[in-house]
Amino acid sequence: MINAYNLLKFVHVLSVIVWIGGVTALSILLWRARSERNREIVSVLVRQAIAFGQRLVGPASGLVLLTGLAMVGLGRIGFSTFWVVWGLTGIAVHFVFGAVILRRRTMQLGEASAPGTTDEAALDVAGRRLWQAQLVYLLILASVVWAMVLKPTF
Ligand code: HEM
Repeated sequence: MINAYNLLKFVHVLSVIVWIGGVTALSILLWRARSERNREIVSVLVRQAIAFGQRLVGPASGLVLLTGLAMVGLGRIGFSTFWVVWGLTGIAVHFVFGAVILRRRTMQLGEASAPGTTDEAALDVAGRRLWQAQLVYLLILASVVWAMVLKPTF
């Protein structure tokens, strides 16, 4: 059925796909390039990941928040509903975790793979630290998708 609520949900889910799908793909590509010790590709991917974060993840996650808030209002769902609180918490964690931890660890991998560097151990450590942070981040976001789809209430 085409109505305002469903159109908002369409934009909400599409934004989630662009945001989380993009981060997942970039994380896997970076992990693979780092395992192959291909510092040239790692360096290029780090630059692309930073640009993707700034140009797409920021706006897409903002759109997820805005459409989510609009649906909660329009559908009279209630802002204290458990799965809505979960979503809001997930978005808050994303803003802090993404802007602080992921950003810092991505920059560190960028430094470790910059042209002219040769330190394999530094590349491995920086790559592993970023991969671990990406896994935690994606698991948190997956838990929000779970909550949004199954809508648990307590
Ligand atoms: C990490 C952030 C978020 C993700 C990954 C996410 C993901 C999703 C997904 C996949 C759906 C589709 C569920 C379905 O149709 O079964 C959905 C629906 C929805 N989300 Fe989110 N969401 C997020 C944040 C939020 C926030 C912050 C709010 C509210 C402030 C919100 C409110 C809603 C509402 C109201 C629906 C429609 C529920 C329905 O009618 O079935 N979401 N979300």
